[in-house]
Amino acid sequence: MIPLSAGEIARITGGTVARGTDPEIVTSGPVVIDSREVRPGSLFVAFAGEQADGHDFCGRAVEAGAALCLTTRPVDVPSVRVADPAAALADLARHVLSVLRDREDALTVLALTGSVGKTGVKDLLGTICAAAGETVSPPGSLNNELGVPLTVLAAGPATRYLVLEMGARGVGHIEYLTSIARPDVAAVLNVGTAHLGEFGSVDAIAAAKGEIVEALTTDGTAVLNADDGRVAALAGRSAGRALTWGIDRDDTDVAARDVRLDDLARPTFELVVRDGEEQTRRVALGLVGEHQVQTALAAASMALAAGIDLGTVAGALDGAVPASPHRMQLVERGDGVTVLNDAYNANPQSMAAALRALAVIGENHRTIAVLGEMLELGPDSTRFHADLGELVVRLNIDLLVAVGEGARAVHRAAVLEGSWGEEAVWVADADEAEMLLAGELRAGDVVLLKSSRDVGLRWLGERLAAPAGTSRAEGATA
Ligand SMILES: Nc1ncnc2c1ncn2[C@@H]1O[C@H](COP(=O)(O)OP(=O)(O)OP(=O)(O)O)[C@@H](O)[C@H]1O
Ligand SMILES: [Mg+2]
Repeated sequence: MIPLSAGEIARITGGTVARGTDPEIVTSGPVVIDSREVRPGSLFVAFAGEQADGHDFCGRAVEAGAALCLTTRPVDVPSVRVADPAAALADLARHVLSVLRDREDALTVLALTGSVGKTGVKDLLGTICAAAGETVSPPGSLNNELGVPLTVLAAGPATRYLVLEMGARGVGHIEYLTSIARPDVAAVLNVGTAHLGEFGSVDAIAAAKGEIVEALTTDGTAVLNADDGRVAALAGRSAGRALTWGIDRDDTDVAARDVRLDDLARPTFELVVRDGEEQTRRVALGLVGEHQVQTALAAASMALAAGIDLGTVAGALDGAVPASPHRMQLVERGDGVTVLNDAYNANPQSMAAALRALAVIGENHRTIAVLGEMLELGPDSTRFHADLGELVVRLNIDLLVAVGEGARAVHRAAVLEGSWGEEAVWVADADEAEMLLAGELRAGDVVLLKSSRDVGLRWLGERLAAPAGTSRAEGATA
């Protein structure tokens, strides 16, 4: 962050410097909302949450080195009082970005949204950008009204590329995020059914995602997936130029050709860039699943739109592995069992992508899919789960373990589609699944874990990846 005094922070946020606090106190960041992440010089923002009240941690934050706290009520450490800490974070982020943008060697802001795969693209883009210059692209999924300003506030004078993931649970959310950080390069990855329950219709999701390209000025670039009709149609909603990508297409600026998968479903492909003449580079991803070709094309297109050269882009893509955990995270255990932990979240698109990858791997291995509920799918949720059960059977997955009440429809549909008792089982929870797997797993097996966050299969995935007797360091090879 750029250094700011308590007085400046009060002015920027419309707050007041607390009595007894020196307005000249300077914080240089990082800005944090979790007191455990405080570093010397930090600004600690206290939120009154449902489970914990950040105000109770201000003392500890200052002891740990925080220079200043941002609070909504009096605390007995140096602080600035504001009415709404989320709005204050947004104000600070806007200020910091406008200062950084006024510099001669201004940074480039790259923002992306989509129904699935945002964090994966953000991570890959972060890897590419970091090869070209100093980059802010923190791991994880900081894509909401707190995560976006916190990411912006991590930028400083040396930052060349600021990579932002933007998520939406309703119309207007992305518009708000772009009001904090107007992108120079904005991408829409896809429009699917994630959070369909909140949006009501897929068209409403497309409208909401389009807000990201509406934020571009005429100097900006809208980076769009030509293989998704709803995304391609967004070109008309942007003042910027459009740059398109697609698979096996000859009408896009960027394309993938000759996609092949190795026996762990990791894609290699020809990256094609058409800018007057055609240039190609062969890349081999360390990411699992054919859908990662889309991840790579989106990241490559955004980087190229930011002026990064093809050699740097292809070099960074080659061998790239997941940067954030629990997303197609592949761990090969010492005993010959392979664990594919993709249980960060789940919706019909990402379930299908993960199962297809498992099926490819299954040509040479026994495959086990441990699947939990997909949350937030709205009134058609049962049908989506039944479709999933059918897909498991159609892809010839050797064993389905459906976990929890919400996954009953998956199991039922698999049985109706022709699975027998030894091919599809239902268990009540992750512990029961763990017991079942303990007796079931043998050398050569590949086990996929996937569900929405709250089902907790990712922790089971971690336990499976590093069973007792194996250290974390040995187990975590992804
Ligand atoms: N193009 C794609 N098609 C289908 N599934 C995909 C695609 N890209 C990524 N996925 C899968 O989607 C899942 C979630 O990925 P990721 O965390 O990157 O998504 P996200 O959009 O950031 O999710 P969230 O909305 O929770 O932030 C992973 O299982 C990933 O493998
Ligand atoms: Mg995410």
